[in-house]
Amino acid sequence: MRAPREDSEDWSAEGYDAGGVTLRVLGIPGSLRAGSYNRFLLEAARELAPRGLEIEIFGLEGIPPYNADLDEDGERPEPVERLKGAIDEAEAVILATPEYNYGIPGVLKNVIDWASRPAGRSPLRDRPVAIVGASTGTIGTARAQEHLKTVLHAVLALTLPHPGVAVGGAGDKFDEVGRLIHAPTRAFLRAFLEDLETWTRRVGRRPEVAATS
Ligand code: FNR
Repeated sequence: MRAPREDSEDWSAEGYDAGGVTLRVLGIPGSLRAGSYNRFLLEAARELAPRGLEIEIFGLEGIPPYNADLDEDGERPEPVERLKGAIDEAEAVILATPEYNYGIPGVLKNVIDWASRPAGRSPLRDRPVAIVGASTGTIGTARAQEHLKTVLHAVLALTLPHPGVAVGGAGDKFDEVGRLIHAPTRAFLRAFLEDLETWTRRVGRRPEVAATS
């Protein structure tokens, strides 16, 4: 994994080659909180993304609790259809998870449950998915990320093989307007996004986004 020079964020100096079509990536924060560090982390990812990635953030406000009685064509709540469509149109997904009681928050699990159906036709199936997380605790969502990997296994997502971006002590790493200000974390996140792009071009579903070199 590459990292920028410590004194610079001149990423173009890395000589990075985007390799063709821009990849659309959907970032989903697993928190509804206005000041969510996980949303801020996705905003930092959007800012730091290599030029071959375009990150759109999809907030979970309005997604109702999963109800199998409504999980039929023509019956699904509109925000759920929008979410499934947005996942389907993305080449890859980034899930930003808080850690709640050693696991992923209910709102994030709920979204994965909606997106997991119909069985065999989940928009998450065979979709590259990367995990990041931020927490005020010291181990930065490491336990929740392991939990999330297990859940993604069940839906046959292609989880990025990576130790992941786990931001502990989040209160000190973002400023009062939510900007990620911790330089090593910014560098690590950027390198992570480069790995996501390279890997998505290798394993992604559409031949036109494959790496050209
Ligand atoms: C937490 N938090 C927390 N942190 C952690 O590192 N391990 C944990 O098990 C928990 N458990 C937990 C449960 C509940 C119900 C809450 C509300 C919080 C702290 C949590 O990670 C912290 O509040 C994050 O800032 C939440 O993420 P957002 O909302 O900032 O994205």
